[in-house]
Amino acid sequence: MSEVLLDVQNLKTGYGDLTVVRDVSLTVRAGEITVLLGRNGAGKTTTLRAITGLNKVQGGSVTYLGQSIADVPAHKRVAEGLSYVQEGKRVFHELTIEQNLLLGGFSTKQKKRALMPKVEEIYEFFPILGEKRSLTAASMSGGQQQMLAIGQALMANPKLLILDEPSQGLAPVIVKEVMDRVHSLKATGLGILLIEQAVQDSVAIADEVAVIDMGKNVISGKAADITVEDLQAAYFGVQSQ
Ligand SMILES: Nc1ncnc2c1ncn2[C@@H]1O[C@H](COP(=O)(O)OP(=O)(O)O)[C@@H](O)[C@H]1O
Ligand SMILES: [Mg+2]
Repeated sequence: MSEVLLDVQNLKTGYGDLTVVRDVSLTVRAGEITVLLGRNGAGKTTTLRAITGLNKVQGGSVTYLGQSIADVPAHKRVAEGLSYVQEGKRVFHELTIEQNLLLGGFSTKQKKRALMPKVEEIYEFFPILGEKRSLTAASMSGGQQQMLAIGQALMANPKLLILDEPSQGLAPVIVKEVMDRVHSLKATGLGILLIEQAVQDSVAIADEVAVIDMGKNVISGKAADITVEDLQAAYFGVQSQ
């Protein structure tokens, strides 16, 4: 079995003294995709914020590459290979595609010339970004901006990539395309934590699945061991509460 990159056990976290995530556990391995599912307000983004260092870990553990990172500042986690795309396509609209990608490499402290081979790699992976490299991000469609946001995160040379609802606001056919690209990233050995509401499309590419509701796991395990019926029962069961 491949290396465990991220191990979250019984995580408790929230905003200030407020606890919204009470007991969440999940694991991400190198070259695998873990999907974190749950309805709106379940605590998915809050879990991500504790993993990336934006919110304080109030209890339980967050272990990255075998070490607790509860006290490591957010920017240091990026430098150590933990890269994330926040909800809602955070790209710089007035900048060109290429400028956006170069900014993504900022944390590596390398100059433009040193970053260009990585930019070219990203153009190979997302050809549409290469074609539009000199245009502003604002000129691109929602799906293309999402690919740019992923490309930007890849510029930091991550070992672990966290994507918060990349399918949000996209047409179903574009969701499939984004999921297909995310799936292809596995081959590079990257571990991916994919936060989603698009259940079927994301579970189709998952190795592990965790479903949370009201800040707690309701299902977790290998995607291969979880049937669509299990998932629907858990997902719709919690939705009807
Ligand atoms: N900045 C905040 N301050 C206080 N509570 C928040 C804040 N952001 C989110 N919450 C609350 O935390 C809970 C989980 O939210 P969130 O993690 O964003 O859910 P999800 O990403 O699963 O939709 C919700 O009840 C939400 O209202
Ligand atoms: Mg969210």
